[in-house]
Amino acid sequence: MTANSGHVYASRDLGEVAMARLATSGRPVVVGPDRGRPPERAQLLTGVEGAVAALTMLTDRVDEEFFARAGGGLRVLATVAVGTDNIDLTAASRRGVVVTNTPDVLTESTAEHAVALLLAVSRRVVEADRFLREHDEWVWGPRFFLGRDLAGGVLGIVGYGRIGSAVARRARALGMRVVATGRRAAGPEAAAEGVEPVSLPDLLRTADAVTLHCPLTPETHHLIGATELALMKPTAVLVNTGRGPLVDEDALVAALRDGRIRGAGLDVFEREPELHPGLRALPNVVLTPHIGSAGEQTRDRMALLAVDNVLAVLAGQDPLTPVRPR
Ligand code: GLV
Ligand code: GLV
Repeated sequence: MTANSGHVYASRDLGEVAMARLATSGRPVVVGPDRGRPPERAQLLTGVEGAVAALTMLTDRVDEEFFARAGGGLRVLATVAVGTDNIDLTAASRRGVVVTNTPDVLTESTAEHAVALLLAVSRRVVEADRFLREHDEWVWGPRFFLGRDLAGGVLGIVGYGRIGSAVARRARALGMRVVATGRRAAGPEAAAEGVEPVSLPDLLRTADAVTLHCPLTPETHHLIGATELALMKPTAVLVNTGRGPLVDEDALVAALRDGRIRGAGLDVFEREPELHPGLRALPNVVLTPHIGSAGEQTRDRMALLAVDNVLAVLAGQDPLTPVRPR
């Protein structure tokens, strides 16, 4: 597209239904060179040049340069994600670009994945599966493949927001006591769910499993480092379905390797798509490639919500789920 063409840019193909709805904007739609990969930086910048609206993903860096290349005609940036750490919200607001994300529709799915990792690492599901595949013979024993019971244990939720509270409900159903940090952890809703508000150090000291659900901001970068890992019980596990840089990965690998904590379930990594070589080698870690919200129905809902945000802004209406600048 040429400059000021007024097209809608989507950095990835979002599936038939969402793309068909996007076409109803009456604007030309330009889709990134999908083939299962994000656009290269140069392709992203060329694609958005002159666009009136852009749909981007967590793999796209949306910064000053992006907005400059888009030009003054860009009215809305819809990220198909709840996290906005890849977006310069200040630059967007300075230029009058509305930013929207996809909260709520992915809450249950992401909570499910956090619990999947919690169960998998606690009961050594992946390790046991690997063992069976690699051994022709095995002998059952009363102390064979012991994991940690979740029932009766304490789950520590760092960042009690929408996803954190959905995890809390599931943890209660599993028979766990739940402690949490975050402003809402001290609210009436949390109290009604039986969630106890605590400080981060207290959470780390008491929890049998720690799960991270806070957004990545300059304040939460490396929220869990060597000092915090040292506060955790040696029998505890860490689950991260939030953002990789919440955790100092070098410190985590060292703690896991030295048995200072028992295990980890990780869906996000500090330098995605790179995997820390130390993680690959550890048996007590379950790894998934940032698929927390990757349920079929959830991904459809996320794509449609992003599209509806674009359509609303282009029609001169309020966006459905705007992101406020921090
Ligand atoms: C996924 O990580 C998201 O932020 O939606
Ligand atoms: C995200 O939706 C959160 O608030 O946890």
